[in-house]
Amino acid sequence: HGTSRINDAGHLEIGGCDVTELKAEYGTPLYIMDEQLVRRRCREYMDAFAASGLGFQVAYASKAFSVMAMCRIADEEGLSLDVVSDGELYTALQAGFPAERIHFHGNNKTPDEIEMALDARIGCFVVDNFTELELLQAIAAGRGVTVNVLLRVTPGVEAHAHHAYAATGQTDSKFGFDIGNGSAFEAVQLASAKENLTLLGVHSHIGSQIFETEGFEMAVERVADFARRVKNELNISFKVVNLGGGFGIRYVEGDTPLQVSEYVAAITNAVKKYFAGIGESLPEIWVEPGRSIVGDAGTTLYTVGTSKNIPGVRKYVAVDGGMTDNPRPALYESKYEALLANRANEPVSETVSIAGKCCESGDMLIFDVELPAAESGDLLAVACTGAYNYSMASNYNRIRRPAVVFVQNGQSDLVVKRESHGDIVANDLVPARMTKQAV
Ligand code: LLP
Repeated sequence: HGTSRINDAGHLEIGGCDVTELKAEYGTPLYIMDEQLVRRRCREYMDAFAASGLGFQVAYASKAFSVMAMCRIADEEGLSLDVVSDGELYTALQAGFPAERIHFHGNNKTPDEIEMALDARIGCFVVDNFTELELLQAIAAGRGVTVNVLLRVTPGVEAHAHHAYAATGQTDSKFGFDIGNGSAFEAVQLASAKENLTLLGVHSHIGSQIFETEGFEMAVERVADFARRVKNELNISFKVVNLGGGFGIRYVEGDTPLQVSEYVAAITNAVKKYFAGIGESLPEIWVEPGRSIVGDAGTTLYTVGTSKNIPGVRKYVAVDGGMTDNPRPALYESKYEALLANRANEPVSETVSIAGKCCESGDMLIFDVELPAAESGDLLAVACTGAYNYSMASNYNRIRRPAVVFVQNGQSDLVVKRESHGDIVANDLVPARMTKQAV
C-alpha cells in the first residue's frame, strides 16, 4: 500500500527510498513514515467532510504519533489537533501549530496544564468531569477570560474495538459524563451557567480500531436524543458535536476496515438523519482520527540478530528492537505482518516468531510469520507501525528509542534523532554522598 514497492534489487522501497540505504544512513531500529500516505489520509478526511456539506473540523489525535514534523503536516493539510497532555501541547506549539485549532483532552488535566493551554489561547477544552468543570471555571475567572468547552459524554455504546482496554464508550468508563444516569444533563446545566465558559457542545469517543459504522451511528443517535432533550428542557443548542476517533485500519489479513470516506459518510448521514429538527441548524461535526491518519504509513525496520530453533516447537528470530519500540503485541496481543526487507523477492521458506531483545519472555513482536530463512544481518520490516508505536515507546532495559524518518519522492528526512547513550543518563543525578571520594 502507499508508496511501498519491491525494487529490482529485491529490496523494500518506501517513498522511493531503498530501506537498505536507510539502514546505512540512519541505522536500525528505524521508524519509517510514508509522508505521502499520511497526507493522503488527511485529505481523505478533509475531502469526505467537505463533500458532506456540514461544517466540520478534523482534529488529528496526536497521541497516535506526536512529533513536531507531524504537527506541521497536520497544519499544512488544514487539520486541527487533539492533545491530551502538556507534552503533546508543547510539541504542537513548538511546531508552530495554530493554537486556535488545538483541542485539549484528558480526564485529569492538571492546573498547570490548564494554565499552559490558556496562556497559549487554545481553541477548546474537552471537559471530562465535574472537578475539571469547576477548576477550569475558577482558573478562567481568575484570568478574566472566557474559554470554549465541549463536554465529553459517554453515550453507552460498546463499539467493536480490537481489545477491551481501548473501549471507552461504555457506562463503566473513567471518561466523561454519562448520558444514561443524568450526569451529562447536569453537566450541561452547570457548564452553561458558568460565566467564564462557553459551551460549544458535546464530545463522544466510542473506542478504537473499529471496523463497522453501527457504533458511530448509534452514538450519533444517542447524542442527538440527548441534544433534543437539552434543547427542549434548557433551550440550549449544541453548535458542535465531536464524535471522536476510532476508525480502523488493516494491520493483517482478515482485518476489514472501511474506507475513510465510508466512515465519514456514515457519520455525516447519521447526523443529518438524527439531528434534523433539533434547533435551527445542524451542528458542526468534529472528529479525531489518530490511528487511521498515521497507522498504515509507518514501517519499523529492524536488523535480524540471533535465532533459536526448538525443533518441533518454534523458531525464534530476534531483532534489535521489540516491546520498547512496539509494546502493542505485549499489551494488546496486537498482530502485525512483516517481510524480509533486503530479500523481499525470495519465496517464503519457514514459519518463525519474531522476538525482541528485552529481558522478558513477553517481548514478542509477531508469532508465526512466514519468511525466507532469515539470517543475522538481514533486515526485517514490520508494517503498519505508524500509530501508537513511537508514541508508546519506552526506555525499558535502558534501550534507546529509535530514530524516525519521513520518506517521500526518493528523499528521506530525519524527524526524530535516535537517542544517544548520553540521553539515557541525561536526567540521572548521583547524590554527592555517593561519589567515590565521599566519606
Ligand atoms: N479521541 C479520543 C478522545 C481518544 O481517546 C482517542 C484514542 C482518539 C481520539 C483517537 O483514536 P484512534 O482514531 O487513534 O483510534 N494505545 C491504543 C489505542 C488507544 C486509543 C486511545 N484513544 C493502541 O495502541 O491500540
